[in-house]
Amino acid sequence: MIKRTWFLFSTVLLFAQIITAQEKATISIDAAKTGARIAPTLHGIFFEEISHAGEGGIYAELIQNRGFEENRLPAGTSLVDGFIVPERTPHFSMPNNGVSDWKMEWPVKSQWPAWSMNATGKSVVNLSLTKADPLNSATPQSLQIDIQQADPNGKADVANEGFWGINAISGDEYYFNFYARSDERYMGNITVSLQSSNGNVLATYKFEKTNSKIWKKYSCTLKPVKTDPKAKFVLSFDNTGTVWIDFVSLFPAKTFKDRPNGLRNDLAQYIADLKPAFIRWPGGCFVEGINIQSAPDWRNTIGPVEKRPGTYSPWGYWTSDGFGYDEYLQFCEDIHSSALYVFNAGVSCDFRSGTFIKDEDLRPYIQNALDAIEYAIGPADSKWGKIRVTNGHPKPYPLKYVEVGNEQQGPRYASRYNRFYTAIKDKFPGIQIMASMGIGDVNKYTLDSMRRVDYADEHAYKSAFWSMNNYDHFDKYKRGNYEMYVGEYATNNGVGSGNMIAALSDAVYIFGMERNSDLIKMSSYAPLLVNTNDVDWPVNLINFDASKSFARISYYAIKMLNDNRADVNLSTAATVTHPAVKQPKFGGGIGLSTWDTKTEYKDIEVIQNGNVVYKSDFINQPGDWQLLRGKWNVTSDSSLAQTAEGAQQFALLKNKTFDTYTLKLKGRKIDGYNAFIIPFAVKDSNTFLRAHIGSWVNQNSVFESVTNGYDVADITGQKKLPAKIEKGKWYDIRVEVGIDTVKCYLDDTLLMSYSEPAKVFAISGKDERNGDIILKVVNATSTPVEAGIEISNLYNIASNGELITLSASSPGAENSYETPKKTVPLSEKIDGISSKFKRIFPPYSLSILRIKQH
Ligand code: AHR
Repeated sequence: MIKRTWFLFSTVLLFAQIITAQEKATISIDAAKTGARIAPTLHGIFFEEISHAGEGGIYAELIQNRGFEENRLPAGTSLVDGFIVPERTPHFSMPNNGVSDWKMEWPVKSQWPAWSMNATGKSVVNLSLTKADPLNSATPQSLQIDIQQADPNGKADVANEGFWGINAISGDEYYFNFYARSDERYMGNITVSLQSSNGNVLATYKFEKTNSKIWKKYSCTLKPVKTDPKAKFVLSFDNTGTVWIDFVSLFPAKTFKDRPNGLRNDLAQYIADLKPAFIRWPGGCFVEGINIQSAPDWRNTIGPVEKRPGTYSPWGYWTSDGFGYDEYLQFCEDIHSSALYVFNAGVSCDFRSGTFIKDEDLRPYIQNALDAIEYAIGPADSKWGKIRVTNGHPKPYPLKYVEVGNEQQGPRYASRYNRFYTAIKDKFPGIQIMASMGIGDVNKYTLDSMRRVDYADEHAYKSAFWSMNNYDHFDKYKRGNYEMYVGEYATNNGVGSGNMIAALSDAVYIFGMERNSDLIKMSSYAPLLVNTNDVDWPVNLINFDASKSFARISYYAIKMLNDNRADVNLSTAATVTHPAVKQPKFGGGIGLSTWDTKTEYKDIEVIQNGNVVYKSDFINQPGDWQLLRGKWNVTSDSSLAQTAEGAQQFALLKNKTFDTYTLKLKGRKIDGYNAFIIPFAVKDSNTFLRAHIGSWVNQNSVFESVTNGYDVADITGQKKLPAKIEKGKWYDIRVEVGIDTVKCYLDDTLLMSYSEPAKVFAISGKDERNGDIILKVVNATSTPVEAGIEISNLYNIASNGELITLSASSPGAENSYETPKKTVPLSEKIDGISSKFKRIFPPYSLSILRIKQH
């Protein structure tokens, strides 16, 4: 039996996973001992224009490239061999005014993306883009349609495919608008229709005798008679002549809260259901832009939609900015969230062009931020407040926070932050100002150079179980004269597309934030939305296509934790008891592997209890090994050499598994980037752990987990190697695999050690509205955990309470389009609660228990 006790304001139950036996735990809550208060602002959301989150996403517009502008190159870039290349100016994080060679593939393959022409029979139609006589300067191009012959028995059509299809729903209304002008020859009609992919007309309207030399707006309502999630939109012409069209828009009448130019209902509802305290917008890297010239400017996103020029997202597509500053602020108001607006600080993205505009050129950027704030909250007679009123919103919007740039850091950024801070506080003392901290932890380096910080914004993208391995991450933070905002967090490595382990890891991460709520006041998961037809980021909270949507399990974990956020932490202690006999954690096969490296291995031995139970003999028994990926050959000195380029090369010792053992071998790097990879705990060729010596281009060592063959996650931090692995030199490698700890040695020096992380966690707090004690427990083990729960200093405990459980039968379980509700929380009333009672928490579960008083 092992006993451990923690006296934080919470309880951490740390112990190795036991495969066969049931864990037992005691959780003791002292209801009279309160800890830090938990901010009502703890859970917000972060919206970024990534993966078509807005355009072709939550913004309900159904026509892609409605303004015919999407073949335009972003400002300040040129097209070179299929790539867009920003002007080569000094990159702020490169030494000696170095210039980045960053470029991005230009995905546009047509002059009029998403549009196509269909002329059948004897019809002859030519399409071209023209800049002549534009509708307005924000939409300088229009589509010129020359109908040279219009066959009454054929078609002269121009179609739009929407965003990977248009979701036409039978009986629903769709508002259609477009602008057209024509030459004197075109005396015909323009018929618009929604059509299914096989050409069946679902809804249609004929604009008769449309001849107008000047731009004219046409509008109608379409009502499909059948549902088709992959419909297309078609304009049909029936006369010869030339017609120019621009700003073609099709909008569902039903939008979230029935707002015109509004949001897609299902997606907005997912967000509203999360009850976010705030919405951060519009990014992310989006704010920074690929270069300074093409970074977003809120002023281009307000007013009539056809006068918004659009922004090129660094994620590789245009947004029409239909979900602009007003629509964002309106959404905040509609769902009772505060707004957190992020603006460009005169810096473009570090991972892209990396421009840092000169300090003397900063003034317009400061003014731009002040104007944005004035637009949102300024009085109706202020310059920008007046424009807000003109745009239909007399009352101020709920803007409460702004952030100076995204993921910038260091003293240079800090001094820039200081300038923004002073200017904003002078004019708007009530606005809270966030400082970005780069990717990763809050760094002293940045913070110490800032005169005053309201909130420091840490971004945290982590691997499976990281939060469990690093449960004390925030406990260790030095408290100071600032609050913390975790502006982007997610467990997104080694978790499939967002599985149960991701959700449990995210839940434990949130436990860590709640426990440290004296410091952490706000957080938001990232990214929020993904159109699964164009995925820019591996794991996202809410997935959708043109007609369907579903939320990852993490969504439900966050929702549960926000719905059941306590007001104040309670002191809790825990005792965990393990079954007497522990099961080995790292049982399985062994292998040899490389990554972008040519390497030889020899003299492999597996030793158990002092006996050599396996010894390699590649010359006489090459068949012992299964050569799964890569190019392996046996050398004259009986080594196995891997000589192919590329990642994840893998050889597996056949038909042998070991539980606890020492693996000894020699390795020699021949060429390439890294050095040695030794798989162990191999379940199959796609699922194993491995010791990676010479990771990060031969600089580090790390234990990694591999799932799905190619999904690699660090399970320990990267540790610097004492020295790079030399080419041509034989090294002694030793991997000691214990019951729940594995150690890796190089030439008898311990490089790294890994112990099975904590898998059971609990915190508790008090809901002051009704006196409920809220107990939250994560059991990330594969077995049920029986907990004895003891509550002191709480009287009149009701025997019945409420239990909400989110659990899955396997760690890899995921929600999907096919089974969107496979893993969602289930609520039940339970009995038998007293000051001392027992409860079994299921495997792979997050449970929230509300203990009530009568
Ligand atoms: O959330 C995706 C990206 O991750 C954001 O754009 C950026 O801020 C972060 O690095």
